Amino acid sequence: MQDTADDLRLRGKKIGFVPTMGYLHEGHLSLVDEARKRSDIVIMSVYVNPTQFGRGEDLDKYPRDISRDEKKAAERGVDYLFVPTDKEMYPEEHLSFVELDNVSHVLEGEFRPTHFKGVATIVAKLFNIVKPHVAVFGQKDAQQAFIIRKMARDLNFDVEIVVAPIVREEDGLALSSRNVYLSPEERNQATVLFRSLKLAESMVAGGETALSKVRSGMIQLISSESDGKMDYISFVDPACFGKIEETGSLTEVLALVAVRFGRTRLIDNMLLRVRDET
Ligand code: PAJ
Repeated sequence: MQDTADDLRLRGKKIGFVPTMGYLHEGHLSLVDEARKRSDIVIMSVYVNPTQFGRGEDLDKYPRDISRDEKKAAERGVDYLFVPTDKEMYPEEHLSFVELDNVSHVLEGEFRPTHFKGVATIVAKLFNIVKPHVAVFGQKDAQQAFIIRKMARDLNFDVEIVVAPIVREEDGLALSSRNVYLSPEERNQATVLFRSLKLAESMVAGGETALSKVRSGMIQLISSESDGKMDYISFVDPACFGKIEETGSLTEVLALVAVRFGRTRLIDNMLLRVRDET
């Protein structure tokens, strides 16, 4: 008999949780390390959640390799791997969903209108099943992390949400399960996301306060050095995710980019420190 989440809680164990869609890479595994630091038992889920994919998106071809994931998770010290089926997660017609106003419909939400409804719903369900004390998410999906934290606060989930830094390849490309879709040429060009964010970082650190100028610099770089098609380049106040066009009184600005290479859509972001003029 395996322990249930309730058994572990009854024995006073602190449960750390890392939800994923699998095809594990170092980004996912870094979250395991963060969960380990904060808990006695680390539970990871691997579930490609259909409700967060829009029509025409990559649900069917999303990369999957569960035996490789099992091995990597075990090697990294995951105690329990939860791999539910669609029937287990959505056994009958689902009528209940978690939706967040405003923040779900900007940036990623503009291009993927039903995405965050699916994400918030599955994460709420996973929290109720796994019953973690602490759950770890990656800054790679900054808007998702913000939404989960907000959901947990708004709906009184008794879970501490931890957000861990972005893990990158040596050339700056943020690790993502979707990077395997890139052709070698696209893979080379994809470093332009990181380079555009570094450009933004240096402009804002150098005193540029007009974010439209920063965006122009980034567009110039991306269009001259790649064939990538930009969905958005946006700047938000990291405290509320509201879009901004001036650094104003903020000490930090979050820059977010989404660029398509062929049919592969990549996202990245960076927290920019604003130059202190005082
Ligand atoms: P997935 O894309 O598999 O990502 C799982 C977790 O790994 C997320 O919290 C994501 O932000 C984090 N992650 C991905 N790449 C990362 C990187 N390079 N560095 C640091 N962290 C990284 O995000 C999802 O799955 C799903 O939406 C999920 C939350 C599991 C709900 O279905």
